[in-house]
Amino acid sequence: LVNGELRKWEGSTTPVISTISSTEEYAPTTLGSIPDMGEPEAFEALDAALGAYDQGQGVWPTMKVKDRIECMLAFVKRMEQKREEVVKLLMWEIGKSEPDSYKEFDRTVEYIYDTIEDYKQLDRDSAKFQKHDGVYAHIRRGPLGVVLCLGPYNYPLNETFALLIPAIIMGNTTIFKPAKHGVLLITPLLEAFRSSFPKGVVNILFGRGRAVAAPIMKTGKVDVLALIGNSKSANALQEQHPKSNRLRLVLGLEAKNPAIVLPDADLDLTINECISGTLSFNGQRCTALKVVYVHEDIKDEFLKRFSEKVDSLKFGNPWEKGVNLTPLPEPDKPAYIQELLDDAQIKGAKIKNKKGGKHFDNYIWPAVLYPVTKDMRVYEEEQFGPVIPVLSFSDIEEPLNDMAESNYGQQVSLFGKDVYTLSPLIDSLANLVCRVNLNSSCQRGPDVYPFTGRKDSAQSTLSVHDALRSFSIRTFVAFKDN
Ligand code: G3H
Repeated sequence: LVNGELRKWEGSTTPVISTISSTEEYAPTTLGSIPDMGEPEAFEALDAALGAYDQGQGVWPTMKVKDRIECMLAFVKRMEQKREEVVKLLMWEIGKSEPDSYKEFDRTVEYIYDTIEDYKQLDRDSAKFQKHDGVYAHIRRGPLGVVLCLGPYNYPLNETFALLIPAIIMGNTTIFKPAKHGVLLITPLLEAFRSSFPKGVVNILFGRGRAVAAPIMKTGKVDVLALIGNSKSANALQEQHPKSNRLRLVLGLEAKNPAIVLPDADLDLTINECISGTLSFNGQRCTALKVVYVHEDIKDEFLKRFSEKVDSLKFGNPWEKGVNLTPLPEPDKPAYIQELLDDAQIKGAKIKNKKGGKHFDNYIWPAVLYPVTKDMRVYEEEQFGPVIPVLSFSDIEEPLNDMAESNYGQQVSLFGKDVYTLSPLIDSLANLVCRVNLNSSCQRGPDVYPFTGRKDSAQSTLSVHDALRSFSIRTFVAFKDN
């Protein structure tokens, strides 16, 4: 989708392959193919976005708020008609379970309606005058320019739209490249984008990041890099920009969120929350619990009950009833998971659950590893998959020091009962991460709450409310009371 046109592609293509087998005999399934776009298409998209923005004087940034809202409403209504198609592709392309695929779609639609409401409020607020020391001001929010947007494979619809929608509604123009996995599901929505927004406001490119995103960055004409994914891609793109100090970054990156289980924790609740925290969507969430610290006094009981529970989960294809675990969409992920398990076992950890690590192609049983030590790769790396490193501690300073030394700082889950212990601990943890979850697993939502991180985990803040601010700048008119 470039400059309001859905282009026909006649060049080479790359097949989109699902790791889910469509036959009894295991074989990956080819779902379709995507165009291998390159520099010419990238530059056309950039020109279209620059044209529609036209240094802030273009049709989109100057459009009346109510008209921009009309466009967004038209889009979301058209999008809603594609629910079944998108959900089916979510299941096939990334292996997300059927209930979670519907949840991703519905959450995205709700996010768009909430964004529209919040934008209306922002507009009402900006109509008010302020007066300080005899100076009146009429403060409003304006767009930043051209936004290059790249989303992740684990929420290819929801998290990408959590960037794209606020960027668009604030009056920016956009170029969007879908993730490698979860790319076909954007195609049913192309026509909705085309027919809802003026030409050049939303441009969608297919192909590899290196082939389309990097050349766009090199021109120095991008104002905002909005990316949810890994820091390697974010850094590589940022470095391409010749004036990267001018670039606004809206980034959601890696995290290594810990669970800290205190000796008085309610174990039933803790185990349930740690199961969903570590293994929802097979652990492929930036908010997943990626390391579990259990107090020495309760570690044996925790490990026994937690491991049994992991082994009792149900494996299957995304559309099967009651499945908890599904195949991983990245073909090379099993080999990576195996490397982590081998490395940890060589250095002294054991797989505590009977089924742990067993795999059949991309269907991998989660492995509970204990005792994990700091020299192991699984302690350091964001596994983003079904491996659960467990460490025990006798002094709370141990997990606190580890968190202070970590490169990440998104969230933590704290399990315990005694308020006199919890209260000061919450204060300490809040200075290390951005969200402390008390007796509950880490998560991004509800989407009205700020979603961000310290250190290498994020730049800027997302949420219905904050994203509008992340994609805009405050400008104002001032005059004196003469
Ligand atoms: O992958 C990172 C996502 O922000 C996780 O979102 O906590 O709603 O699953 P979630």
